[in-house]
This record gives sequence, C-alpha cells and structure tokens, in this order.
Amino acid sequence: MNRTFTFALAVLMLLAMPFSLMAQKNGELWLDTEGTHINAHGGNIIKYGDKFYWYGENRPYRGFTTEVGVSVYSSTDLRTWTNEGVALAVSDIKGHDIERGCIMERPKVLYNAKTKKFVMLFHLELKGRGYEAARVAFAESDTPVGPFRYIRSTRVNAGKWPFDMNKAQRKAAQKTDAAAWKDWWTPEWRAETEKGMYLWRDFNGGQMSRDMTVYIDDDGKAYHITSSQENLTLLVSELTDDYLDFTGKYNMVAPGGQNEAPTILKHDGTYWLICSGCTGWAPNRARMFSSRSIWGPWKQHESPFTGANATYRNFPADKTFGGQGTYILDLQSLGKESLSASQYLFMADIWNPEHLSQSLHIWLPIQFTADGTPRIEWRETIGKK
Ligand code: GAL
Repeated sequence: MNRTFTFALAVLMLLAMPFSLMAQKNGELWLDTEGTHINAHGGNIIKYGDKFYWYGENRPYRGFTTEVGVSVYSSTDLRTWTNEGVALAVSDIKGHDIERGCIMERPKVLYNAKTKKFVMLFHLELKGRGYEAARVAFAESDTPVGPFRYIRSTRVNAGKWPFDMNKAQRKAAQKTDAAAWKDWWTPEWRAETEKGMYLWRDFNGGQMSRDMTVYIDDDGKAYHITSSQENLTLLVSELTDDYLDFTGKYNMVAPGGQNEAPTILKHDGTYWLICSGCTGWAPNRARMFSSRSIWGPWKQHESPFTGANATYRNFPADKTFGGQGTYILDLQSLGKESLSASQYLFMADIWNPEHLSQSLHIWLPIQFTADGTPRIEWRETIGKK
C-alpha cells in the first residue's frame, strides 16, 4: 500500500467513527451519530426493549420559543445517540395549545406497563403569554419514537386541598388574599405564603405547574413533581393508573422555598429530591430534601454538590458546576451498572440562553457518603474512575 493511500484510508476510518464516541465529555458539545450537538434539553431517558430513548426540548439556535417540539434520540449503550427526529411536533393550527411559538419545557416520558403506551408530560406555556399559563400537558404514543398525540393541558389539582392539610389549616388559607400583597419577601408576606396564600388564590382554577419531573415508584404508581405557586412551592401529585391524569391526591413540599428543576431518586427506601433555586438560566446552589415516604415529611439537607477544587469554567460546586438538574438516571434499573462506578447519574443542562440549542449536557455520578447522603463531584466523564 502506498503512503497516500494508507493516509486516506486512516482519514476515512476516522470520519466513519461515530462522532459521539469521541465526545460525551461533561461541559463539551455532545454529538449524535450525524455529528450534531444533541438538541434534547430539560428531558429524561427511558429504556424500552434493548434501546434507550432520550427525550428533550428541541431548542432553537436563536430565541426562546418552541419552533419544532420535543426531540427523541435512541441508543443501545447510553453513549452513542441517533437522532430519531421529533417525538411531539408543534402544531400549525392557530390558537392550538402547542401552536408553533409556544414554550414546551422539561418533557418527561413514562412507559405505562399496563396500557403499553408511552406517556409524555411537559411544562407548557401558551404562545404569546410569557410564563403565565403555567400548565402541564399530556401526550401519548404507541411507540417510543412517536409521533406522540397531543392530548390536553391543564393547571393541577383544581378545587382540591393537599391531602394532609387539616381543617384549621384550610380555614387559615382561605383568609389569605394574594392580591393584597404588592411587596414580596417581607416577613408578613412570607407568613401568609406559608399559610397557603397562592394555593388559595389558584384553588378553583388549579395550581400552577412549571418546572417538573415524573417518578414511577416500585409499585408502578407514578407521581408528578412540579414547581408551583409562583415557583415558591413544590407539589407532589399522584397520577392515575394510565398516567394521563391526576388522582387529586397531592401535597406541598417546602412551601415558600423557591425550588425549581426537581429531580428524584429512591435509594435504600429513602427518596432524595434534588432541586435548584430560581435564577432563570443562570446556575445557583442546589437544594436537597429526603423523606422515607413520597408524601413526606421532607427534611432539608445541604446541597449534594461538593469538591473544593473542581470547577467547570469558574462554576464551583455551589453553582452546581454551571448546570441545572433535569433527571436522575438509575443505571441499575436500566441494566447499565457497568457504565459508571455509581448507580445514579445526575443529568443536568448548562443553559446557553444566547443559543439555547447549544446548551450543554452534564451527567455526574451520585455517590453516597458513609451516612448514606448523596454527594456529587465534578467529573469530566461518566465512566468508571
Ligand atoms: C429556569 C427553568 C427553565 C426555564 C427557564 C426560563 O429557571 O428551570 O426550565 O423555564 O427558567 O427562564
């Protein structure tokens, strides 16, 4: 073989290599098999058959609104991702809930073993109305890659009290008046908020629902966890058996705590909820709660992010290394324990508000300290150390 030929062959082989095998470094672009950065943000991953499916926001290079819909990628190893196109597309019908130009955020897909359907829940904002609609939307599909059929959007738990609020607490909430408070963050405002001022304001029309996640428990019951009441309070709500509606049973977590971007795992019988604060696209210090029951009581802990030296581009542990959580992958339940020394991977987005499609993905192993508390350090890769 002459030299030029050998060189050309080597170049060709390099080009043919899946781009993603060369990428997947935290804090860098993650390329799909076509060499394009994975445009699936704020999403989640499920396993079906012998494949993994990654759903997420398909974001534009410029602007904030949803012009395409929800993306889906597939993989057999959680490393090499093939773009499967659009799982749920925006509508071209004027006035439709998901009309092009709406905002679809934080899509999460669940496989329902009973109905054998794929159910998608996501945060929906109606076109031209900023973030005021604050709804959750449902879509369904017979196959993992879709197309998903849009079903409806709604506020949550209209006309329902949190199941654990007693008579006296309900009465106190009904005496509050959100319209009377122009100034937020005063001690008086805080006291009224903790009594359920925003819960009462939205009682009849339904509670707000913005950043959200879903969780299927060991018994197959699914829960929707969302940032509600002006992003002040998290709600945990039980879904019906088909995952297409709410049963009406719900409660509040950390009222007034301003938690967003909820993610959850269950380890040795304890639920761990890892959230962010509310600073838009900018990173902040994560928050963590634990409970022996999905219904609480939840105990607050320090942020699990740690590591004095490790920073990602000047973003230290107390800025979540520049990221905001979106989902926790349980590698054991996905049959992929060999991928990382840790059973769980914290999936987060490093948002790029100038070019949202280019927002970066970081997956960080969740370790447990000797007393069983999660801790997360910066790592360049998800691989075993
Ligand atoms: C973040 C939220 C994102 C998106 C963004 C808009 O706080 O987690 O999902 O809503 O605000 O500014």
